[in-house]
Amino acid sequence: MNIVVGVTGGIAAYKVVQLVRLLVRDGHEVQVVPTADALRFVGLPTWEAISRNPVTTSVHEDVASVRHVALGQAADLVVVAPATANTIARMAAGIADDLLGTTLLATSAPVLIAPAMHTEMWLHPATQANTATLRDRGVRVIGPESGRLTGDDSGPGRMSEPEEIHAEIGRILARPADDAAPGSPDAGGDAVGLRFVVSAGGTREPIDPVRYLGNRSSGRQGVEVARAAAARGGEVVLIAAHVEDAILDMAAADGVEIRRAGSAAELADAVRGAAPAADVVVMAAAVADYQVAEVAERKLTKEAAAGVPPTIELVENEDILAGLAARRSPGQTIVGFAAEMPEPGETLLERGIRKRRRKGVDLLAVNAVGWSEGFEQADNALVIIDDGDRVAAEAAGSKRETAEALIDAILAARARS
Ligand code: CTP
Repeated sequence: MNIVVGVTGGIAAYKVVQLVRLLVRDGHEVQVVPTADALRFVGLPTWEAISRNPVTTSVHEDVASVRHVALGQAADLVVVAPATANTIARMAAGIADDLLGTTLLATSAPVLIAPAMHTEMWLHPATQANTATLRDRGVRVIGPESGRLTGDDSGPGRMSEPEEIHAEIGRILARPADDAAPGSPDAGGDAVGLRFVVSAGGTREPIDPVRYLGNRSSGRQGVEVARAAAARGGEVVLIAAHVEDAILDMAAADGVEIRRAGSAAELADAVRGAAPAADVVVMAAAVADYQVAEVAERKLTKEAAAGVPPTIELVENEDILAGLAARRSPGQTIVGFAAEMPEPGETLLERGIRKRRRKGVDLLAVNAVGWSEGFEQADNALVIIDDGDRVAAEAAGSKRETAEALIDAILAARARS
């Protein structure tokens, strides 16, 4: 395939060397089109050596071969990585005063951008509006991720890792080419027309006005499921329990509708409200199994306890997932997550199969948890069990990659039924 890699002026340009390497290794014909600014981060000889093709930035070079439109016309895919705020703005406005600009206007191939910038620039209404404009035109957007940025700050703005962009390119190229005009509802994604409800995060059960029983879920895996479904064209409602704003902002920027819930009871209400309209419900939230029987009206104090440590009585919460599965409407797919710590002599799969049967769900994504596994980690590993207790898929990698594998399994299960 002919792939144009547009590189713009951000520090993440150095990571794109690895992306080009991966694409060349796959056997693609790769044309790198850096902006003049990008060359201040990584020089021309590097791009030429890695891509094994001549590299130019100006529309005035190689005029005889009409390179300024030829590259775009011949491309099967154009990826812009990193895509700076400036480049996104220029793309939204259709500015074409360099080779990358003309290439982008001359192409009818799928376009993927990997934004990278400081959090404030990403969250600025101008950048958000420009990204939304591109998305409406059918441009695919991967990332940005939340994490450490150049300098001391951290937040959403870090470019997706080259391996993730490479995987996304693979997925785009694997999809049957559609003739839909960019921006039409048919323009992209195998989840177009599907409505998803995804829960994420960890519920908190109040003890008194200042204390709660909680868990370590960050919500990242569930948010990635929501973002992946939206990126593939689904309509997504995310019900978030105590997920960091910066993580939710990324989902909102991807077009996901966010609703918030605090306790298990609030989450149950929110999910029940949204589920009837959904084709797919994914319960990725870590829901408390118990709530405090009597929530104290006032802050519990040691003084009032008078030397006797208090005992907190718990009562069981309803199992939201099992309820959804029992009352699912025809054609609805109910998906659960399971956080498991197998006992000695028992496998993760055995535990997962028991839980899938108990909950009655169509798919169960099982992951191992422990003191250092599952939570607060960038990566995850999932075993996905289907309604015949078979392993539908196994996935390991970033939470985005495992989310994509789960969406694949959901779509495959729906295609079978
Ligand atoms: N879940 C739910 N309602 C609850 C508890 C869990 O909907 N009250 C959902 C979770 O969102 C997840 C799945 O059930 O999709 C499994 O959660 P997990 O905590 O692994 O299972 P539990 O039912 O709590 O079982 P156990 O504590 O025995 O492992």
